Amino acid sequence: MNSADSSFTDRHYEHLAATYDAHWAHSQANVGGMTDLIVQHLRPEPSHTVADIGGGTGIFAKALMERVDLRNPVKVVDPSPSMLANLDASVQIETIVGDADSFSERGERVDRILIKEAVHHFPDPSMSLSNLARCLTGGGRLLIVMLPQRIRYPLFQAALKRFERLQPNHLDIADALRDGQLDVEIAHHTLNQALPTERYIQMVEGRYMSLLSEFSDEELSAGVEEMRRTLTGDTVTFPDDFVFLTGIRRGA
Ligand SMILES: C[S@@+](CC[C@H](N)C(=O)[O-])C[C@H]1O[C@@H](n2cnc3c(N)ncnc32)[C@H](O)[C@@H]1O
Repeated sequence: MNSADSSFTDRHYEHLAATYDAHWAHSQANVGGMTDLIVQHLRPEPSHTVADIGGGTGIFAKALMERVDLRNPVKVVDPSPSMLANLDASVQIETIVGDADSFSERGERVDRILIKEAVHHFPDPSMSLSNLARCLTGGGRLLIVMLPQRIRYPLFQAALKRFERLQPNHLDIADALRDGQLDVEIAHHTLNQALPTERYIQMVEGRYMSLLSEFSDEELSAGVEEMRRTLTGDTVTFPDDFVFLTGIRRGA
């Protein structure tokens, strides 16, 4: 979050890197369900070269390699060396330390680009997406997976409000893709989350979302107290809504 301040984002992910996979992969169904949706919209083929921009620890690059049997290693691009250091070494992945803009400056051509839950960190999404669009081969696809501005997470109220203010509107991101001369398809999907309440509270205390790094220790403690008062059951269940924006480059 806080896309204007990249050092803030870098610090957040340096801190989070070691526990990132445990936070997100709390159920294999979660990764599997998301990978199904990514494949449905990205339509990768075994011969394709795929770049995962803001790919972090490579959870989804690995899942894609396994699901599609890609012949070329996925290029996982991320400015956080600590996130990349957590990549599963047994998987054939090319890691590139850098942000979205430094990747497009390399002038490489790729068939598919995935940007999952990273576009909100781009300081100038419009410029970065236009440059990335130029890296696509004819008929190539760029898939952005992002949260909507209103999420239905069982977070404390101040966090939900701050998220709504900071998260880019997906319609503006869709316009940015159109400005990059891509045809755009918009889809909405929901994955249902269920996890032990105490586990979820620990994730919040561990600032599992970059949003939570916006709050001081005192504010976070107050927020966690509020959550403990409202989340009385042993399990939290909530809908995790995602927007899938597919940009398609014309031509064969
Ligand atoms: C929420 S994580 C998502 C990681 C991965 N895509 C996933 O879904 O598991 C966001 C990632 O975006 C990266 N990031 C931050 N600013 C970026 C930028 N300007 N260009 C590319 N990636 C960036 C962060 O380092 C972090 O690894």
